[in-house]
Amino acid sequence: MQNLNKPVYYGEYLELNKLLDTQNPRSKELGNEAHDETLFIIVHQVYELWFKQILHELNSLHRVFLRDQIEDSVLSRVVLRLERIKKIQGILVDQLDVMETMTPMDFLEFRDLLVPASGFQSVQFREIEILLGLKTDQRKEVDRTYFLGRLKKEDAERLMELEKGETLFTRIEAWLERMPFSQSKEFNFWTEYQSVVDDMLSGDEITILDNMATLPKNSVDAQLENLKSTRETFETLFDEEKYNELVRDGKRKLSQKATLHALFILLYRDRPIFNLPYMILSSLMDIDEGFTSWRHRHAIMAHRMLGTKIGTGGSSGHKYLKSAAENNRSFLDLFNLSTFLIPRSKLPELPKSLDEIMNFKY
Ligand code: HEM
Repeated sequence: MQNLNKPVYYGEYLELNKLLDTQNPRSKELGNEAHDETLFIIVHQVYELWFKQILHELNSLHRVFLRDQIEDSVLSRVVLRLERIKKIQGILVDQLDVMETMTPMDFLEFRDLLVPASGFQSVQFREIEILLGLKTDQRKEVDRTYFLGRLKKEDAERLMELEKGETLFTRIEAWLERMPFSQSKEFNFWTEYQSVVDDMLSGDEITILDNMATLPKNSVDAQLENLKSTRETFETLFDEEKYNELVRDGKRKLSQKATLHALFILLYRDRPIFNLPYMILSSLMDIDEGFTSWRHRHAIMAHRMLGTKIGTGGSSGHKYLKSAAENNRSFLDLFNLSTFLIPRSKLPELPKSLDEIMNFKY
């Protein structure tokens, strides 16, 4: 505890004596120091500090979204904090360049001393994943027992407790579900939207059939097949049972209601009332993309360091990391919404009363 009456001194304020006394290479302790182990430790520690800051931001957002009603003024703070996370993610990716100045042979000088420790056991990274809606049972390549078995009992229990409760993901879902504009007594946006989509897809079918004479039959068949599957994808959006089946199969995460409302925001994002909600949805996609980029870059780096060797945490190494990068996505449903966008010129006209609420002039 600092003495609050003393003048503030840089090193004491930042508690540098503690911070800078935590780089202890195992190779040095064992009497044969590997030069690059210090870099390895510092790079990991810096990552954990940034994870701590990301969690600080995500937890503050979680507290905001736990409310049953959120004012617009608070949403602008949400946007700023999401922006901050995006900037940090940029550093997370770039920092791998520093790690890669260590060659695979230099890594081999101390790698075996680390077993079975691994970034796989980064509890803060798992907390971030859980807050963003990633569930233990949804992981590919690692089952629950293997995944939790790598962690100390108290860490595994803490993470499971976190996973059981509301996460930022579930609260954002609830916030989207509450969005009031797409349906009212006198207006159902979705009926009008479906008729625009039907017209659009029928138009596509006519174009394909018109080209029949000039294109090979198998190409026309493929296009018709594609169109059929687009129609089916649209149907799942409006058929509650079919949609819930996709959720059960792990093909969708967001509820049907939240998905429809997110789509409404994307379609009418130009309306002032949706500026902030649109920026939030857009930032959530950026953050999902940011972690995916980090995972890909980290997987490539691990490949470069290890070749096809297994990781110190006992996974298949590069193969596991590649699959995690492809599958561990939080807001994939938002990305998939682009399937359902229609040209601005074909957007159904909103009733005047609603249009007035969604606009302001000055
Ligand atoms: C020489 C450098 C590195 C190598 C060769 C490497 C390798 C690996 C491997 C093979 C795994 C899979 C689990 C296992 O079997 O161990 C893993 C997981 C992980 N590593 Fe690294 N890593 C390196 C550096 C880093 C750094 C600097 C961080 C920053 C915190 C990091 C964070 C993680 C995380 C969070 C996981 C879990 C990923 C997941 O389960 O999706 N790694 N690493």
